[in-house]
Amino acid sequence: MTIKEQIDRDRLPRHVAIIMDGNGRWALSQGNQRIFGHEHGVEAVRSVVEGAGEVGIGYLTLYAFSTENWLRPREEVDALMNLLVQAINDETASLKKNRVKLLTIGDFDSLPPVVREKLAWSLEELRDCDGLRLIIALSYSARWEITRAARLLADDVRRGAVCDADIVPQLFDKYLTTKDIPDPELLIRTSGEFRISNFLLWQIAYSELYFTPVLWPDFRKENLFEAIVDYQQRERRFGKTSQQVGT
Ligand code: IPE
Ligand code: IPE
Ligand code: MG
Repeated sequence: MTIKEQIDRDRLPRHVAIIMDGNGRWALSQGNQRIFGHEHGVEAVRSVVEGAGEVGIGYLTLYAFSTENWLRPREEVDALMNLLVQAINDETASLKKNRVKLLTIGDFDSLPPVVREKLAWSLEELRDCDGLRLIIALSYSARWEITRAARLLADDVRRGAVCDADIVPQLFDKYLTTKDIPDPELLIRTSGEFRISNFLLWQIAYSELYFTPVLWPDFRKENLFEAIVDYQQRERRFGKTSQQVGT
């Protein structure tokens, strides 16, 4: 039985989020520049998007560039931004063919105009797609998002649209960039690092975490399927006892 056949289609995670890590190490281990790893990371993205569509995942979020990644050397940041423009340009037609709808989360305003324009074009092209929701986290960090939400909420309290007693988790959700997107049931991080790096801190409160040593440029849909099969073997208790959730 292939790994794909081992997936129980009735118990799929609705939303899978991935911290795509290890591009630099992948390239350096072969004596290449870090950007070479980023370039090959695009192939991994293509495979994973395809795989998510094949098994029927509803939402796939990819952490592509963090708020902290702006601190990298200028040449690497520039190369990443160029690569992003190129990838959006090259992939949009096939995303459309596969009915993939693109969404972005992050500080859009901090991106260079050329990236914003290309993204706006792609978002518009894919606006009516009704298949997989592909969410790209760009210039994103959870602390940026949560403090922004607090500010927006404070505005609404000040103008009387919200009162203190209204502030419950479900309301706070509405102020996040992920509003209307279900929380991820499964979070994957590649490259053998065991940390979250400021990703979706609010939304992963009850996500199942899956860490793999595979470096992102080597990651393929089969690796995604392995993670899903692993996820399906877990018991999710949400604070209850095993007897209560009884499988
Ligand atoms: C992930 O790979 C891509 C981004 C963070 C943009 P890295 O560039 O972090 O690769 P490593 O972790 O240095 O190997
Ligand atoms: C996390 O990877 C951010 C993205 C994958 C976009 P990093 O490589 O930036 O994370 P740290 O700095 O090692 O924690
Ligand atoms: Mg890294």
